[in-house]
Amino acid sequence: MFMPGGKYKNKDLADLIMAMREDYGSIHVVPGIMGGPPMLSTRNPKDFEVVFRHEGTWPNRPGADALLYHRQMHRKDFFQGVEGVAPTQGKASIRNLCSWTLESASVVALDRQLGLLKESNKRIEATKLFHLLEDFFKVSADLELKPSAWRMFKTPKLMKMMNILDTILYIISAYIDEAVERLEKEAKEGVVRPVDEQSVLEKMLKVDKKVATIMAMDMLMAGVDTTSSTFTGVMLCPAKNPEKQAILREEVMKILQGLGFHGGIHEELLNRDSVLSGYQVPAGTSVSMVPLSLLSSEEHFPKAAEFLPERWIRNATDSTGQCPANDLKLKNPFVFLPFGFGPRMCVGKRIVDMELELGIARLLRNFNIEFNHSTEKAFRSELISFPNIPLKFKFTDLAN
Ligand code: HEM
Repeated sequence: MFMPGGKYKNKDLADLIMAMREDYGSIHVVPGIMGGPPMLSTRNPKDFEVVFRHEGTWPNRPGADALLYHRQMHRKDFFQGVEGVAPTQGKASIRNLCSWTLESASVVALDRQLGLLKESNKRIEATKLFHLLEDFFKVSADLELKPSAWRMFKTPKLMKMMNILDTILYIISAYIDEAVERLEKEAKEGVVRPVDEQSVLEKMLKVDKKVATIMAMDMLMAGVDTTSSTFTGVMLCPAKNPEKQAILREEVMKILQGLGFHGGIHEELLNRDSVLSGYQVPAGTSVSMVPLSLLSSEEHFPKAAEFLPERWIRNATDSTGQCPANDLKLKNPFVFLPFGFGPRMCVGKRIVDMELELGIARLLRNFNIEFNHSTEKAFRSELISFPNIPLKFKFTDLAN
């Protein structure tokens, strides 16, 4: 069914998952094809909780086999056993958004801005980097989640992936070398910074240059497109809901600070024998937990089709000062875990929280935001979600 002309061919990941769910039910096993592992797929949030709560201290996240192949086989010479964290386990406006999130991640991972937001001679290389980061996700979705023979022989797609990862590594290594030079120069000049003023890269470099390089690579791969897509959603919601935008602006103006969205797929190797949806599942089974359809279900999100951000507020006070129970609130927290759960949860969450809050607060303080176009199929799902429509936001300066 994955072959040309087949029912599942050319579907984006979200549509593929929905179609398989309809065909096979809410818990089913996808057999291993062409050397890939079999996968148990569930959409029962009670199962999510069982899997996450049984994960132990060193949870195993499959789903990054091609990245591991690059580190363990293809470029074994460089990585030498250091695997990093992530694998162990239309467009102009989209590009601008990616520039901003790449700049932010780079400040953390590379201790520098790349010059994407202003003209600079480094711009071409940095632009190449974010094209490569996006390509990484697209090719990953094909290699990791769709049947592919790459585990049996070197397919052209695997070689494309190795090429993407080689080039990302090459560009990042050059940035790291520059940072090392800069820090050495500063040390010679007697510049001493207290620990809390040292950048993340500076601290990691003190541990090991290879580890610092690989961590920077992981942070950029995990942190750029995820944040851009999330920020797109965070802007589309108030743009399409002006009355909510006005409320948020009022809050922002009051405190001048002032948001997550993501429908990820969590994969996990079951750490011990467990019962999932009434079935006995042995330890070591790959489990794919897919909350996508739950995020729009009335069962978990009353009035799911409406943008009601107040559903996330803990104790909403009404106009009479009462604090009624929030009926809109999500009852089972395992339904919505945009940053994962437990020891392997996203290391960038706090950066993202800050970046998105500051980003949306700044925009709302200065502009009225409109989006006068359809948001039908606004996102397409590769390994993560990507904006799928031209982001023609209309920004109008506020009167003051
Ligand atoms: C809105 C933006 C983001 C979202 C929705 C997101 C979401 C996630 C999720 C769901 C995971 C897997 C968690 C699990 O398996 O339980 C993850 C892992 C990770 N994220 Fe993020 N992330 C975002 C931004 C970032 C940023 C900005 C960085 C770095 C600066 C980052 C670095 C990482 C790393 C290194 C991992 C792997 C952790 C591990 O495997 O132990 N992420 N992220």
